[in-house]
Amino acid sequence: MEYGYFDDENREYVITNPKTPYPWINYLGNEDFFSLTSNTGGGYTFYKDAKFRRLTRYRYNNIPADNGGKYFYIKDGDTIWSPGWKPVKTELDHYECRHGMSYTKFKGSKNGIEAEVLQFIPLGFWGEIQKVSLKNSSSDKKKIKLFSFIEWCLWNAEDDMTNFQRNFSTGEVEVKDSVIYHKTEFKERRNHYAFYSVNSPITGYDTDRETFVGLYNGLDAPDAVFEGQSRNSIAHGWSPIASHYLEIELKPGEDKEFIFMLGYVEVEKDKKWESKSIINKQPAHDMISSYDTADKVNRAFEDLRAYWDNLLGKISIESADPRLDRMVNIWNQYQCMVTFNMSRSASFFESGIGRGMGFRDSNQDLIGFVHQIPERARERIYDIASTQFEDGSCYHQYQPLTKKGNAAVGGNFNDDPLWLILSTTAYIKETGDFSLLDEMVPFDNDSSRAKSHFEHLKASFYHVVHNLGPHKLPLIGRADWNDCLNLNCFSEDPNESFQTTENQKGGTAESLMIAGLFVVYGKEYVKLCIRIGKEDEAKEAQVHVDAMIEAVKQHGWDGDWYLRAYDYFGNKVGSSENEEGKIFIESQGWCTMAEIGKEEGMVEKSLNAVKKYLDCDYGIVLNYPAFTKYYIEYGEISTYPAGYKENGGIFCHNNPWIMIGETMLGRGDQAYDYYTKIAPSFLEELSELHKVEPYVYCQMIAGKEAHRPGEAKNSWLSGTASWNFYAITQYILGIRAEYDGLAINPCIPASWDGFKMKRVFRDVTYNINVKNPEHISKGIKQILVNGQPVNSNIVPILEKGKEHSVEVLMG
Ligand code: BGC
Repeated sequence: MEYGYFDDENREYVITNPKTPYPWINYLGNEDFFSLTSNTGGGYTFYKDAKFRRLTRYRYNNIPADNGGKYFYIKDGDTIWSPGWKPVKTELDHYECRHGMSYTKFKGSKNGIEAEVLQFIPLGFWGEIQKVSLKNSSSDKKKIKLFSFIEWCLWNAEDDMTNFQRNFSTGEVEVKDSVIYHKTEFKERRNHYAFYSVNSPITGYDTDRETFVGLYNGLDAPDAVFEGQSRNSIAHGWSPIASHYLEIELKPGEDKEFIFMLGYVEVEKDKKWESKSIINKQPAHDMISSYDTADKVNRAFEDLRAYWDNLLGKISIESADPRLDRMVNIWNQYQCMVTFNMSRSASFFESGIGRGMGFRDSNQDLIGFVHQIPERARERIYDIASTQFEDGSCYHQYQPLTKKGNAAVGGNFNDDPLWLILSTTAYIKETGDFSLLDEMVPFDNDSSRAKSHFEHLKASFYHVVHNLGPHKLPLIGRADWNDCLNLNCFSEDPNESFQTTENQKGGTAESLMIAGLFVVYGKEYVKLCIRIGKEDEAKEAQVHVDAMIEAVKQHGWDGDWYLRAYDYFGNKVGSSENEEGKIFIESQGWCTMAEIGKEEGMVEKSLNAVKKYLDCDYGIVLNYPAFTKYYIEYGEISTYPAGYKENGGIFCHNNPWIMIGETMLGRGDQAYDYYTKIAPSFLEELSELHKVEPYVYCQMIAGKEAHRPGEAKNSWLSGTASWNFYAITQYILGIRAEYDGLAINPCIPASWDGFKMKRVFRDVTYNINVKNPEHISKGIKQILVNGQPVNSNIVPILEKGKEHSVEVLMG
């Protein structure tokens, strides 16, 4: 069953039934100021950091789901309704929610009134616009009442949900003309306030929640709305809100537009006050006046569209399947931007207070985003590297507002440092900007301890070399990429965290996943060293890479697949000898991408084992058989019920590692088959089972041993977005940025006749046309660049600002 459809022309997903199996959301904002918006208007807004600068309140895991957001109420006679269906839930004559590129548009109509609410955040702006258009399509004159509603969060989202003994006494607001100001804690240490305005005179307002809603009502039935009269309440403590009340007359056929703005303002310390206890409103006025007419708003909306035209114009394809095109051209790239911005902080599964920016996550997110805005990627690499220590280890997370490492979570996740080599080389290949390597980057955010960025990469590489275990394989530390494989933890206390609790002394567990990762990025490191003339360093590093390859062959091969790890006691993890968890995906992915033992047939055997034991209808599960009891020596992985999350779930993030591995063997049909199993646009018809949005990837789909295989969770913020984009564009379609040009090496299903890709790379536009007349999966007979044959599969960097044709003949 479907709940909407893709409108590719407008780059929108159009939801036509508000009762989706789970709230289907979208993100507004591109740089500093963000909102999450569900298909019924639920969600919240924050500035930079969803924990420390939350503007509006949101209650997770609420009953009913997704209650609270930015709501409008229309009272037309006795009928009360909302354009986004919620919160009133009056049956609408028409409902539609269009989630587009950084905007959402609701269209609702009832009894001859058509309402459209367009929400977006203009580029570079710290405010959300809500353009409300109302039209009377009936033949009668209409007198309607419009109420807006938001609930303020008292800034620190965690404190806001817990510290009620204080919070119920701190809330403060001001109201002037049509603007409601939220100024809680402004008089002491905060230099910021928020406001909610409308560009029209109002008949009334409310700022005290209980007065507006009524203590025993829900948001579906606020007293003020039902009585058709706001109370002009001023909040003192309790829960401040902002609600405007407008009386609107519409002749038959007439329409009117109103611009609401939810803004955030920072004021210098000595300019905070206009007069005693009255805040300086000038900055808010300036913001309001920049978008106080529909024309100005429409122009900003056009700018946003142009911004996305440009970003999405850098890579676009034409294939025989619209589902693939819409993933590559629109939704996957869009999701890559969102994950780049949010890391794992704020979604409908991430509360915004738990995790900041992850070291490994943000490095990986970058590979799906770097072609869009390389300058932002560069800045991000700098921020991430600044949280590293001299020995190469690093904080696992940092807060986006302060950019400081999160000491409470700490470090010692031994895969973390290596991802910095991935992000850095991806950035340099995309841009050709080697100067990043010379940039002085602090260690532990201390600029007196800064060294060149290259030294950070070196520290990352040697962190593995300096932390080898008994089999000369990398020590795992707290965990590698799989946060839940806690081999040194041994937790018996339900109150402690598997990730942060003190590990057992010794900590000798080793990871085959890090081994493969080290070989892949070790080779990249060597290549980079050669490229920048550090021959000696390259030679030395190569010795370590070769040693790791040997160690894997000797101690990491189980006969038919790669082992996953050695546990604390030196026992094998992920071996046919184990009763459960005989085979794991991560080491198959990384060791095959590293092509360890390819000549000996290990790569092929390993991928065949993945197909045999891990593949299922909905994707590739993480491990098999899933654990059915708690293994104290394995940790959190064995706490999940079989088939869920890291215990036998389809953890989508790692599926593309296998796809890439398959392309190493030239098995394009298999690689693409895995791709289509988890690509959301291919799952649209399964929406009822799948539950989450059919336009974005999710972290996890329940695996074959789960209670409900195929049911997905944790949509949006997942490394799946960048890895799938990377796998499909760079390995399956096979067009990849390299230091000296664009490498072309597709590995596609044999049935394809070919495909086209437009790729803007270093200001050069390449119109690539791949033809596959012999219906093979991999192999190139000829490449013609502007009609001339080239004898390598790397197309050089051609004249900038121009379009060039690249004809690729497979064979
Ligand atoms: C985390 C990743 C981790 C993955 C697998 C995600 O939730 O953000 O850092 O690699 O889970 O455990």
